[in-house]
Amino acid sequence: MALLSGGKSVAGLDIGSSSIKIVQLKETGKGYRLINLGVRSLPQEVIVDGAIMDAGVISDTLREMVKEIKLKVKDVAVSVSGHSVIIKKIKVQEMTEDELEKNIQFEAEQYVPFDASEVNMDFVILGASKDEGKIDVLLVVVKKDVINDITTVVNDAGLNPVIVDVDAFALENMYETNYVLTSDEVVALVNVGASTTNINIIRDGISIFTRDISVGGNQFTEALQKQLQVSFEDAELLKKGETLGEKGPEEVEPILSVIADNLGQEIQRSLDFFNSSNPDIQLSRVSLCGGGSKVRGIVKAIEQRLGIKVEMINPLESIAYNKKKFDQEYLDDIAPMLGIGMGLAIRKAMDR
Ligand SMILES: Nc1ncnc2c1ncn2[C@@H]1O[C@H](COP(=O)(O)OP(=O)(O)OP(=O)(O)O)[C@@H](O)[C@H]1O
Ligand SMILES: [Mg+2]
Repeated sequence: MALLSGGKSVAGLDIGSSSIKIVQLKETGKGYRLINLGVRSLPQEVIVDGAIMDAGVISDTLREMVKEIKLKVKDVAVSVSGHSVIIKKIKVQEMTEDELEKNIQFEAEQYVPFDASEVNMDFVILGASKDEGKIDVLLVVVKKDVINDITTVVNDAGLNPVIVDVDAFALENMYETNYVLTSDEVVALVNVGASTTNINIIRDGISIFTRDISVGGNQFTEALQKQLQVSFEDAELLKKGETLGEKGPEEVEPILSVIADNLGQEIQRSLDFFNSSNPDIQLSRVSLCGGGSKVRGIVKAIEQRLGIKVEMINPLESIAYNKKKFDQEYLDDIAPMLGIGMGLAIRKAMDR
């Protein structure tokens, strides 16, 4: 949420619990072109419940990645999510942006369970409220210690975190860069990571509901681990469709489909909550990305559970790239995991 001006290029840096992604884009005037890309997995337990447990491993990995992909820029956009982020639509007396800037702390106080000194705040004025004389404002509050943790680790790797965004908004920027929505479409963006699933419902270029839930690809791995008595690493391979000795898709798929249905139920719970506070809004579809969405059969399973259309997002859908530099098959494989990184990489151009 830091403000940035000037034309310097930034790379998107998504530090996920299972892997780090770096994405660098260039504006071409007609859209964006992929310039550089890196993905590296992290050992388990380096990030737990969104908290950095082993900063050294992350900064070492980052430094190696930067070297390996020959990243030319030092400025990066990072993001945060989870319990330390509050995104809330609030109503305040009609006032200008400048006035609200001065008063935001006071206005936000009743919605924020943390002391004002512990948080960074930002807001977006959404427009006139249904209540006369009031405006709707999207309030974004992030705990300072979380921002501090991530900026420290990035600094230690020799990079400058010049923008701190929120996962849900990066997701939205990625989607709106790749796809065009008509004004009557309401889409639930769902990024299924390893440990967290970010949900962001958007309409008319505005985020109308966000929620992070603590489920993701790890649930599939853990179920395989338990039921097939294998290590985490083997369970990961089985999940991705490999056969290990006697164990293969025949044993794996029934287990995956139960967990896919569980994930569908978790998403359903959030959508039900959204529906109960917005009974007049009809969802057009659910759009999925994130590594967790690569589990075979997941689209069908979630579609069945939710009873509405589910489709995959390709974060590189409208992005140009040099076919000689980037291998098509590799890009297809990792594209689903680039949602947040892509959204962060385009942040500069859209920054206020
Ligand atoms: N081919 C595949 N089939 C099934 N699952 C896959 C596949 N490829 C990756 N995954 C799973 O995707 C998850 C990683 O996705 P992603 O990179 O989006 O998560 P992350 O950003 O590291 O995690 P989080 O955001 O939750 O901290 C892991 O659980 C991984 O096992
Ligand atoms: Mg992630």
